[in-house]
Amino acid sequence: MTDEMFQLSEEHQAIREAVRSIAEARIAPYAADVDEEARYPSEAAAALLEGDFHAPHVPEEYGGAGADALATVLVIEEIARVDVSASLIPAVNKLGALPVQLAGSEELKKHYLGALARGEGGFSYCLSEPEAGSDAVSMRTRAVRDGDEWVLDGVKRWITNAGESEYYTVLAVTDPEKRSKGISAFVVEKSDPGVSFGAKEKKLGIKGSPTREVYFDGVRLPADRMIGAEGTGFETAMRTLDHTRVTIAAQAVGVAQGALDYALQYAQERKQFGKNIAEFQGLQFMLADMGMKVEAARQLTYAAAGRSERGDSDLTFFGAAAKCFASDVAMEVTTNAVQVLGGYGFTRDYPVERMMRDAKITQIYEGTNQVQRIVMARQLLAGVQSQL
Ligand code: CAA
Repeated sequence: MTDEMFQLSEEHQAIREAVRSIAEARIAPYAADVDEEARYPSEAAAALLEGDFHAPHVPEEYGGAGADALATVLVIEEIARVDVSASLIPAVNKLGALPVQLAGSEELKKHYLGALARGEGGFSYCLSEPEAGSDAVSMRTRAVRDGDEWVLDGVKRWITNAGESEYYTVLAVTDPEKRSKGISAFVVEKSDPGVSFGAKEKKLGIKGSPTREVYFDGVRLPADRMIGAEGTGFETAMRTLDHTRVTIAAQAVGVAQGALDYALQYAQERKQFGKNIAEFQGLQFMLADMGMKVEAARQLTYAAAGRSERGDSDLTFFGAAAKCFASDVAMEVTTNAVQVLGGYGFTRDYPVERMMRDAKITQIYEGTNQVQRIVMARQLLAGVQSQL
């Protein structure tokens, strides 16, 4: 056993510090405006690109920063601590590009991961449809072979950063008889003729991250845009989510920490009954529970990141567990931070109500927490247990 098991390496600590200083100086000052105006966090996008934190997971051989899974988690956590919307930039770039990284041809990897790393465009992930959310296998988007090309038709819904991203991993049915084994993955570009976008959804939170429908109307794709072999798309989509659910856990830990930091500071300044409210035991017990749960969520998330990096066989369980646990903690902790601030917490003059609204999505996207529990139960019943 080494110390590394119990503390972050110096390199990881340095990454946390570097991202934290960018987040505090160049992302936090705009977070309230971005939310209020429901606008893309362009200041954050520029700062992340400059720091090479926009898609840190891209391997060095494709021109990326080569951050491992834990380093990527730290980047996302630190950004989410000040602005969850902005943390979706590195998170969704990983989600969109990972299918290419896990299953794509060398040509696809060189071309698209290289472009992503160079900042030529973001990468979104198109799995969900109006009638296929949790039940992803029931998708209807269809790709039909025509000579050397595939012709893509359908609608994807709830697509994060749609319209902003240049590149899209799109899951489509190539053989309706085969259910999950008849689904294939493709890279589609925003500029491909026949691609268009719906209006921005009006959301409860993460208002700085555009969520739109994506329409494919007879989009002709060269055969080499297929990611991996025909019929492997669903498996690639699920393998991707095993890794990226860990990044949603990181967002959840980050927003929970941001809310806890604010509540701690407030409780030591706000006076009632002649003393700081932090001196009341009722408040102290709340703060203690918040700190305890954030730390438990963080440790589970980092443990899951280790499994993601190594590709351990229990990653599916750990990815689901970390996402589910951390997002439930984020909802509870941000709600309690609003409670600590009382009436002030309920107003937009303070950041905790935004954090509470932003935290909610982490219980829903990349698989609802009900789906995570299905995934965990199936893994446990199949005998896949922790390797510890
Ligand atoms: N790794 C590899 N392969 C996997 C897998 C995994 N983790 N999970 C499933 N598969 C493969 C298996 O090969 C399986 O085939 P076999 O029969 O050969 O085993 C095949 O996929 C079908 O799997 P299931 O039989 O388990 O399929 P199911 O219909 O019962 O559904 C589900 C499983 C877990 C509910 C799945 O549909 C699911 O995860 N749903 C949620 C979808 C989701 O997370 N959507 C989020 C969209 S992305 C997003 O939110 C982005 C954003 O905005 C940021």
